[in-house]
Amino acid sequence: MSLDVKQRLIVALDVDTRTEAERLVEALEGQAGAFKVGMQLYNSEGPEIVRSLMQRGGKVFVDLKFHDIPNTVVQAGRVMTRLGVFMYNLHVAGGQEMMRQTVAATHEEAKAAGVNPPLVLGVTVLTSITPQQLREEIGVDRDLTEQVVKWAKLAQEAGLDGVVASPQEIQAIRQACGPEFLIVTPGVRPAGSQLNDQKRVMTPGEAIAAGASYLVVGRPITGAADPAAAAQAIVQEMDKAGR
Ligand code: C5P
Repeated sequence: MSLDVKQRLIVALDVDTRTEAERLVEALEGQAGAFKVGMQLYNSEGPEIVRSLMQRGGKVFVDLKFHDIPNTVVQAGRVMTRLGVFMYNLHVAGGQEMMRQTVAATHEEAKAAGVNPPLVLGVTVLTSITPQQLREEIGVDRDLTEQVVKWAKLAQEAGLDGVVASPQEIQAIRQACGPEFLIVTPGVRPAGSQLNDQKRVMTPGEAIAAGASYLVVGRPITGAADPAAAAQAIVQEMDKAGR
């Protein structure tokens, strides 16, 4: 990856209101490459918050993890494209037909609107799921890393730009999908910080060294007394791990 390391940090704005989001964005000015708007903020503030972040010059990853029949996800992907987002995602578990049609529609819509197509990412196994949960609750008997790699390959075959996965699966995905495939990884925790509900985690340096394209970090930055300093420390660690 030749991107400036700061561009590879995506901060998750997991707050309820536009006021809180804007406070964080102001505090983090120039400290990160993009902001992630997930279901908490999007469901409360809608597409306006995405437009407002973009008007301030920010790049936005809309993390709504679409999982539905092909036509519904295709239409949602068209909406994301017209909105002009930098990235959006869908669940690989929705199947190859859904993914293939959504990528095609995204590119078609971007061409018609004269904009760059957003990067489309596939969600594999959530970073909060343990191998035991995958087996006993979700009913997947395959080893967790093998399941993630199987889904990453399916996403790549369907034309997706990359996947969202835990840092613990980065090396296996890189090996299976090659150097260009994007791996966006949440589940990042600086040494000594709270895990919260995340289970399959690594430090920012370890995730970069393992081959992550982008890191998504929420609470270790947004919950810090000084979010800018927390982001700077993470970027420094990413830089040292340099790759
Ligand atoms: O606060 P924290 O750093 O755990 O935030 C991680 C963010 O990444 C959250 O917004 C969460 O929804 C998202 N995410 C995740 N695991 C995935 C996909 C997205 O943690 N597999």
